[in-house]
Amino acid sequence: MNLIFLGAPGAGKGTQAETVQAKLNIPAISTGNILREAVKDGTDAGKTAEGFMKSGGLVPDEVVINILKDRIAKDDCKAGFILDGFPRTVAQADALTAFGVKIDKVINIDVADNAIAARMGGRRVCNKCGASYHTEYKPSKVDGKCDGCGGDTVIRDDDKPETVLERLKTYHEKTAPLIGYYESKGILATVKGQSEIKETTALVFSALGI
Ligand code: AP5
Repeated sequence: MNLIFLGAPGAGKGTQAETVQAKLNIPAISTGNILREAVKDGTDAGKTAEGFMKSGGLVPDEVVINILKDRIAKDDCKAGFILDGFPRTVAQADALTAFGVKIDKVINIDVADNAIAARMGGRRVCNKCGASYHTEYKPSKVDGKCDGCGGDTVIRDDDKPETVLERLKTYHEKTAPLIGYYESKGILATVKGQSEIKETTALVFSALGI
């Protein structure tokens, strides 16, 4: 199964992609995580991406499309994959079609902007593996440490309130049009994000029939 998770920043795409990954045993691919690694490693793509990410804008299509193309060509994607944060523009969605990728289902996680802004303050991410936590809704077992790899959990650079507002603006302008794009293809399922993570997971599993 090839799946896409669509939704505003902080809607819970990464959180839900992780649970579906575990259930279906296919990789969840977060372009945000790949780009943050590239910035950390100082690669050419990372150098290009850094300013756009810091300001809450989108990294240029050609940079992200090339990264994604290389990632989905890897062996672990042969049985399917989950895209978290890609596509984010119609040009990126068209690129997937041009690569010959057939998408089976697009899960759109719908959360109101005011709930997003409140949620972002509690997010913590592992600075080693990128796993995501929340101080209230999904705390790590040991405060400040990742359950999976033991790395430090930190506040993401772009989770400052003013950057979150800019990311929401970018989402509405550039990414929300993909809801209609995939609806017209008959493969979109919208799930209302719930205040409990496991309740959203139940709705996602039901939309996927798993
Ligand atoms: P990216 O890392 O993809 O960020 P995002 O889309 O803004 O999404 P987030 O990771 O912030 O949120 P999420 O929906 O995954 O939510 P999460 O599960 O963590 O991208 C970062 C930047 O990279 C972009 O701004 C852009 O510059 C660039 N970029 C990336 N992809 C790109 C592309 N394709 N094209 C161009 N540029 C690109 O949940 C959020 C928090 O809430 C967590 O703490 C979680 O524990 C908690 N939570 C989740 N669900 C619930 C719930 N139901 N109830 C309560 N809390 C919950």
